[in-house]
Amino acid sequence: MKRPILQDKDPILRLPTEAVLDFDLELGQLIDDMIETMRGNNGIGLAAPQVGVSKKIIICEFKGEKEVAIPAFPLTVICNPEIVKASKENVNMVEGCLSFPGLELLIKRPKKVTVRGFDRYGNKIEISAERLFARALEHEIDHLNSTLMVDHLQRIGLVFIGTGTLGKPALEMLAKDPQYNIKLVVTGEQRDGNAIVKVAEKYKLPILRTKNIKDEVIVGKIRNIKPKIGVMADFGQIIPDSLLGLPKYGIINIHPSLLPKHRGPSPVQQTILNDDKETGVTLIKTESKMDAGGIISQVISKLHGTENAVILKEYLAKIGASLLLSSLPYYIAGDLKATPQEEKEATYTKLFKKEDGLVTLESDGKEIERKIRAFIEWPKTYLEVNGKRTLLLSAHLDTEGKIVIDRVKPEGKKEMTYDEYLRGYKTRLTFK
Ligand code: NI
Repeated sequence: MKRPILQDKDPILRLPTEAVLDFDLELGQLIDDMIETMRGNNGIGLAAPQVGVSKKIIICEFKGEKEVAIPAFPLTVICNPEIVKASKENVNMVEGCLSFPGLELLIKRPKKVTVRGFDRYGNKIEISAERLFARALEHEIDHLNSTLMVDHLQRIGLVFIGTGTLGKPALEMLAKDPQYNIKLVVTGEQRDGNAIVKVAEKYKLPILRTKNIKDEVIVGKIRNIKPKIGVMADFGQIIPDSLLGLPKYGIINIHPSLLPKHRGPSPVQQTILNDDKETGVTLIKTESKMDAGGIISQVISKLHGTENAVILKEYLAKIGASLLLSSLPYYIAGDLKATPQEEKEATYTKLFKKEDGLVTLESDGKEIERKIRAFIEWPKTYLEVNGKRTLLLSAHLDTEGKIVIDRVKPEGKKEMTYDEYLRGYKTRLTFK
């Protein structure tokens, strides 16, 4: 019979447990129930306190999964288990627990253990295990000692590097996650009170502003905090080699495109200009060559073809933050590795200039519509009419795919609808 599993705050999970003395039918029934409960919840381990019984019984089993190269281990039942040997070498692994649904924590424990105890019939057994098997035994034995995985929480020292809006939700999620200890937020000097500074101030994180991250004084300050990992988004300065090697796990960059496509400073705008059908976010390990580092993980998102650069960037920032938080523990544990990019598939974006926004009445309507969406923030899309600059603020394509201008702003005037503009200016804006 499947039994309910007690959840995180349940006091029974913290009660001392009693040794199994009678290897009888009742014990057999309890063990069968535990097996059914573990399998029914797709777990790989269960301890008796989790089904409300304060006795020293653990079970575990892993049948293997196609997509992960982790060896399976058989159904193992141990009563009164004791760790008699544990390796000095500790390893990081991502753990879950049926009493904490959805929670995954990076936890360091001995790589190998030897456990002694009794099987369900009272026969002495001794099991030596490593990797996931060792991990399951260690975790379940913890339950018998009233210890939960949250008690092993480690705080990973992190430096965050970013200036623009892309990294805002990532910094916010990192700040809220107890697994990370943000020791320093490095940002540019140019824009006071940028999005990153606002988040850093909200969470009282130390801030370091710099025009030049290559400066040895700045590098020294980052070295002093001894970060284990760096996270970078939308920074706009080249990271020097002296900094790349500082954190043990390197510096992870959040890039808003499907790398190796659209490397460089303007991936979101270029995605819209190109009329790409899909986009996404890529996490890479930063190398000295811009956006060329190995890919750690990637998420793909379909495009409707109506997104503007502001909305798209905001959306990619959010899915990038989720991707980061779900990838980091596996990356640090070594289960996610950086895979080199297909160098020959690489495409590059440039920094746009004011002139890139200029269109004429001879320009292609579909291209203009994309430009308006791509350049909405900067450099904006504009026409020169009778020596005066008219900004094209929004437009759409009609059912025949022809551009229809919706809102404009003539030079020195306020923003207006196209109809208002026609009444005042009598110049139709018709494009090819
Ligand atoms: Ni557990």
